[in-house]
Amino acid sequence: MTKPPKPNSPSRRQFLAGAAAVGAGTVTPNPSRAGAGDPLITEVQDWARALGDGVVTTPYGLPEPAEFDVVRRNISNLSNTTTSSPSFTPFHALEGTITPQGCAFERHHSGAIELSKPDYRLMINGLVDTPLVFSYGDLERFPRETRVHFCECAGNGAMEWRGPRFNGVQYTHGMMHNMEYTGVPLRLLLQEAGIDPSAKWIYVEGADASSNGRSIPLDKALGDVLVAFKANGEALRREHGYPVRLVVPGWEGNLWVKWLRRVEVRDSPVEAREETSKYSDLLGDGRARKWSWAMDAKSMITAPSPQMPVGHGTGPMVITGLAWSGRGAISKVDVSLDGGRNWQQARLAGGCDSKALTRFYLDIRWDGQEMLLQSRATDETGYVQPSKDALRALRGESSFYHNNGIQTWWVQASGEVENVEVS
Ligand code: MTE
Repeated sequence: MTKPPKPNSPSRRQFLAGAAAVGAGTVTPNPSRAGAGDPLITEVQDWARALGDGVVTTPYGLPEPAEFDVVRRNISNLSNTTTSSPSFTPFHALEGTITPQGCAFERHHSGAIELSKPDYRLMINGLVDTPLVFSYGDLERFPRETRVHFCECAGNGAMEWRGPRFNGVQYTHGMMHNMEYTGVPLRLLLQEAGIDPSAKWIYVEGADASSNGRSIPLDKALGDVLVAFKANGEALRREHGYPVRLVVPGWEGNLWVKWLRRVEVRDSPVEAREETSKYSDLLGDGRARKWSWAMDAKSMITAPSPQMPVGHGTGPMVITGLAWSGRGAISKVDVSLDGGRNWQQARLAGGCDSKALTRFYLDIRWDGQEMLLQSRATDETGYVQPSKDALRALRGESSFYHNNGIQTWWVQASGEVENVEVS
C-alpha cells in the first residue's frame, strides 16, 4: 500500500508565496555527449555475442520480467473478499491510451466465472415479437463494429470524496480501462427479435451468481451499445466477461454487464434495490439524483505522480496524463503548475475519440522548485471539469459516486510527489 498523504498539505496561498517560475514552450532534451569511457557504447555486449530466443519460445508473449511492477493492484482492506471487490489499473506506468487487458482494472460482485463459448447463450425476451436465444456462433454472423471506449466505475475516486487518501493515480483514478472493442450493435439483435411499440427500457443481466442486473433506457440500447466479444484485437479475458460483455459507451461501468446472458425488453425499469439506493448520488441538500449514468468529463496526470516521481534533475520534463468524457470527445485539456492559479493548454495526442481516453502532454523545463500539478478537461459539449470544492458545494460532503473533481499532485523539490488538495 502506498504511504498516506501528509496531514499538513500545502495551501495554495502557502505554495504561491514560494512559487516556482516554471516555463513551458519549446524544450530541448539534453543527452550526454557520446564519448569514450562508456562500455555500453564502446564494447561489444554479451547479448550481441550469442543467439537470442527462437520464435514461439513464448507462444503467447508476456511482459519483460523487469516490468513486473506494471500490474493491477487491489486495496486489501476495501472489502472482505477479492470475489466482490475492485482492482486498479497502473495508469502511472502506461502510455498512449489503450489499456492492455492483462493489467486492466476488474470489478466483480461474485467473482470472475468460467464460461465457454459452446456453453454461451444470450436470450432476448420480454416485449418482443419473437423471443430469441443466440449462441456465440450466431453473434459472429451479425454485422460488427470496432470502437475504442473507456469503462469507468462510478466509484472511481469515491474514496477521495472527503479529501486525499491514496498516494497514487492507480488508486485515485484506476477503476477504469480503455479498450478497442469489437462486437454486434445491440440494436441489430433487438431488431431481429422485433421490439414492441410499448417498450421503453431493457433489463440486462450476466450469467454470474450476482447477475449484476441493471436497467438501461431503450434509446441508449438502440444507440451505441455493443454486444462485444473482442477487446484490443483478441478474445475478452475471463475477468472482463469472456466470451461476451455489454459495452455501454460513456456510461458508468456497472452497466457494462459481463458474461451477458439476458436482455429483457420492458416498458419500465426494474426497481432493484441497487438501482434506487446504491447507484444514486447524494446531493448537498439531502436529496439524491438517480440515473446519473453518463460519466462527466474528467482527467488525471499520470506522470509525474506519487508512484512516478521525478527521476531526473532539473531541465526538460514531460507532464502527461489522460482525459475523457462520457458525453463525447475531449476538446481541450489545461494544465496548471501552481494549484489552479495559472493554466496552460496541453498538447492532445492522437484522434480524440468520442467516449474514449485522450492522451495529453505538456513539455516544460523544470527549475527544481515545487509544483502543484492539476489538469482540467473540457469536452465537446463545453462542459469543464470542476474543482473538488465546486463539486462538494453542489453535492455535499457525503456523496460517493461520480467524483470528477480536479486532482492535485504536489511535486516537491526532491522529486517526490504527493496527493494533496489546495483551497
Ligand atoms: N457484470 C457482471 N455480470 N458481474 C459484475 O460483477 N461488475 C460491474 C460491470 N459488469 C459486474 C458486471 C461493474 S460494477 C463494473 S465497474 C464493470 O463491470 C467492470 O468491468 P471490468 O471488470 O471489465 O473492469
